[in-house]
Amino acid sequence: MKIAFIGFGGVGQALAKLFLRNVEQLKKQYGIEPVVVAVTDVMKGSIYHPEGLNTNKLLEVVNETGNVENYPDQAGLIKGWDSLKTIKNSNADMIVEVTYTDVKTGQPAIDHCRAAFQNQKSVVTTNKGPVALAYKELSELAKKNGVYWGFEGTVMSGTPALRMPIITLAGNEISEIKGILNGTTNYILTEMEKGSSYEDALKKAQKLGYAEADPTSDVEGYDARYKAVILANYLMDEEIDAEDVPCKGISHFTEEMVQEALEENKKWRLIARIKKNEEGVKATVQPELIEVSDPLAGVTGATNAIVYECDLAGPIMLTGAGAGLVETGYSLLIDIIDFQRQNAQI
Ligand code: HSE
Repeated sequence: MKIAFIGFGGVGQALAKLFLRNVEQLKKQYGIEPVVVAVTDVMKGSIYHPEGLNTNKLLEVVNETGNVENYPDQAGLIKGWDSLKTIKNSNADMIVEVTYTDVKTGQPAIDHCRAAFQNQKSVVTTNKGPVALAYKELSELAKKNGVYWGFEGTVMSGTPALRMPIITLAGNEISEIKGILNGTTNYILTEMEKGSSYEDALKKAQKLGYAEADPTSDVEGYDARYKAVILANYLMDEEIDAEDVPCKGISHFTEEMVQEALEENKKWRLIARIKKNEEGVKATVQPELIEVSDPLAGVTGATNAIVYECDLAGPIMLTGAGAGLVETGYSLLIDIIDFQRQNAQI
């Protein structure tokens, strides 16, 4: 499998390390031999070799010099291609799209997915923008060109919030999905339950790397709203617009509010809720006061959780990490293995 990394930050590098770590398992169990042919990153430069790069060396060069163009020169090595040229002109079959993308516009990730599909290349991505903003167009384009589009990591990173209901809960009608889909806000709320102030808890969440560079998207609920839109698009088969999802965050929360709730045996949780009925699909994101006995009240720290209301299996809850470099890198591996399984069946 010839792979091009579009973006090579922490998540991309985590996947490259998994290729090295799991080399035997990938080959024996899944018949996958990943060959990294290209890396292009706006900050870290670009290299391409049609016969493949040495992944160990690549990681070493990035780690030591911060620029992939310091990779040792050899015949056939091309430097300096930008992302679109790499997508169009390289011989990669699989584009790993992990650029720094503006979630409000979905760019440049949307253009990258579009170019890949138009050039008959498959894509795996952890970028929420393309799935939240252009799901219908891009999924149709991938289908039309007979290629694969995987985005498991866009909701709950390596916790399989998207594939588990599709594969394992198949045959159920899912009428409602609700969950804690943002780690930063859950961490803040549970720290406040322990007596911390909102400001201190947010600072800690930033220090621990849970929050986005600009935490507005976390604390105002926008991050959870994009994830709710992805769940609606993919699992409920109805394209909803992020702008149409009422969204309230937790930036106005005080210690008193959290402590008063605890005194009444209740807890605040930022809940994304997606409901399907005869009239269609509706989603909301807002802080909800829930009983301490509610399973979602037991979800603490940066952990995420999601509950699927199924007509046959009843409520099914899935909980796990919602962020993290290894976990998000792993989400791309889940997609790559799924792609290989689908190809093997063809
Ligand atoms: N900032 C996000 C969170 C990271 O706190 O959940 C994963 O999208």
